[in-house]
Amino acid sequence: MTQHQDLTSIAEPRVVRDTDLTYNDYLRVPQLLSLQVPESSPPHHDEMLFIIIHQAYELWFKLILHELEQAAACMNADHELQAHHFLRRVGEIMELLVKQIHILETMRPVDFLEFRDRLMPASGFQSHQFREVEFFAGLKDRRYLHFFQNRPDMLAQLQRRLDGPDLRDIFYGLLRRRGFAVPHDISLEHLQADEADREALLNAVLPVYRDPNDHLPLYLLAEALMDLDQQLALWRDHHVRVVARIIGHKRGTGGSSGVDYLERTTHKRCFPYLWEVRTRLSTEK
Ligand code: HEM
Repeated sequence: MTQHQDLTSIAEPRVVRDTDLTYNDYLRVPQLLSLQVPESSPPHHDEMLFIIIHQAYELWFKLILHELEQAAACMNADHELQAHHFLRRVGEIMELLVKQIHILETMRPVDFLEFRDRLMPASGFQSHQFREVEFFAGLKDRRYLHFFQNRPDMLAQLQRRLDGPDLRDIFYGLLRRRGFAVPHDISLEHLQADEADREALLNAVLPVYRDPNDHLPLYLLAEALMDLDQQLALWRDHHVRVVARIIGHKRGTGGSSGVDYLERTTHKRCFPYLWEVRTRLSTEK
């Protein structure tokens, strides 16, 4: 069989008119492929990997925010299982993001050093979408706004996230509407300081975990939020390991201590009380 015959057996040849929507037009492929611009000159071979992996992360961050918005809207409408549907997608994407960081281990430390200085002072600190995911997931730390002083558009978006409800507010709001005795103030700062409210929150959540079959939609939703929290923590663990392997204990291009700073972030949890409730579980009713 000739190559031509082989092709015709896959699809009927069809004349593409100038006005037809094509794959390349729809997905803006030429524009997308023109966005990888190395800083090193002549371009270092590995800089292409470095640019593309970061761009791929940013695209997935965009989708994660899109899906989290939808999950939040479903929770606000008391649709636990619909929220679970969108959060499950986020969980799958994040699993991919955890694996993806290891591609960078194919870059030899000495090769990275060849172009690292050219990137100064650009840093992951300036990923506004990563920070937006964190803020939306309830990890609101306004000190990070400092990295966006020269980008009023990003600053405004992050400020909106800081001021608006996060997934923790929204989830516990739903629990309240379902009749669970969730305390009024569920901010992490307040709960760390107020033992009575901390106990009240744990006791409010406990029935969902003690009798999951009686609260199945809420249980599935809580576990999907746990998946998000766990994947975010795993991403931090894997990122810091990869960073240590490539730059050791050098300072970060964004001015932090590097690995020491990143290690400290690995303890962050968006839903610490969903983690803690497991400790409280027993088979006694
Ligand atoms: C050679 C590979 C990489 C190295 C050596 C590296 C190094 C670092 C260092 C040292 C920091 C601390 C901040 C600073 O002082 O700059 C950091 C933060 C960060 N990096 Fe990376 N990184 C790498 C790859 C990536 C990739 C692929 C992503 C994907 C988006 C990423 C996203 C981030 C983010 C979001 C932060 C802020 C984390 C936080 O504040 O919790 N990094 N990185």
